[in-house]
Amino acid sequence: MAGVGQRGELLSAGYQGVVYKVAAGPEYPGTNYLIIKQPMGSLLVRWFRRKMIRREHSVYMRLAGIAGIPKCFGLRGGDQLLLEFIEGQPLKLSADELEDREQFFSGLLSLLQAAHRVGVAHADLKRKENILITSAGLPCLIDFGSAVTCDHGSGALRRWVFRLACQIDLNAWVKHKYLGRYAEISSADMPYYQPTFIERIARPVRRFWRKVTARQWRKARRRSHL
Ligand SMILES: Nc1ncnc2c1ncn2[C@@H]1O[C@H](COP(=O)(O)OP(=O)(O)O)[C@@H](O)[C@H]1O
Ligand SMILES: [Mg+2]
Repeated sequence: MAGVGQRGELLSAGYQGVVYKVAAGPEYPGTNYLIIKQPMGSLLVRWFRRKMIRREHSVYMRLAGIAGIPKCFGLRGGDQLLLEFIEGQPLKLSADELEDREQFFSGLLSLLQAAHRVGVAHADLKRKENILITSAGLPCLIDFGSAVTCDHGSGALRRWVFRLACQIDLNAWVKHKYLGRYAEISSADMPYYQPTFIERIARPVRRFWRKVTARQWRKARRRSHL
């Protein structure tokens, strides 16, 4: 899904819209390239995505100044989110991809805690492509389209959902740090891992679903070999 068009390089077309990488002019200091995230689709879909992008913009405003979060250069034309391009690779989850695993994950934990302190839970960190390893080997978080926010005026329900989302972030951190090998969690990291009821329900459902789809795939393969 990548290509180079008039608007720059198309990096992705996801549920929120399209993401382009374009050369940044001198009006955007400190970055050679910009990321542009903008809605697309039919009228209604576009309207909804526009709202999501505006919401993501407000999340970036809250996170301004935190190292490890791309700088946000605003909302152009009301629906184009402009971000600093981060030179890096998405986390792949292979044991040898990081020079210093302990240091990377300690940095990532501090980054998550800093975001939580300003009332932002990412809530989509199980997708490892939302965690980048910068060229300097440091963690960086992107894609706040599903983030949950909270502030002093938030009601009890919102605060509860926010706490849940923060815990889901921490659980994702543990999952990635230990490559899903939960039996190996150190006693120091154990307090961070508290599967929420949603995750407890989702895990067996996911496992069951994987088994069903794998069986169907095997059946289809057998049929195609007949
Ligand atoms: N600030 C950024 N720096 C570098 N790459 C980015 C940045 N933002 C997005 N990307 C790239 O674009 C992809 C899609 O962006 P993302 O915000 O995750 O959109 P989506 O909502 O479609 O998942 C990411 O997986 C990443 O490869
Ligand atoms: Mg994403």
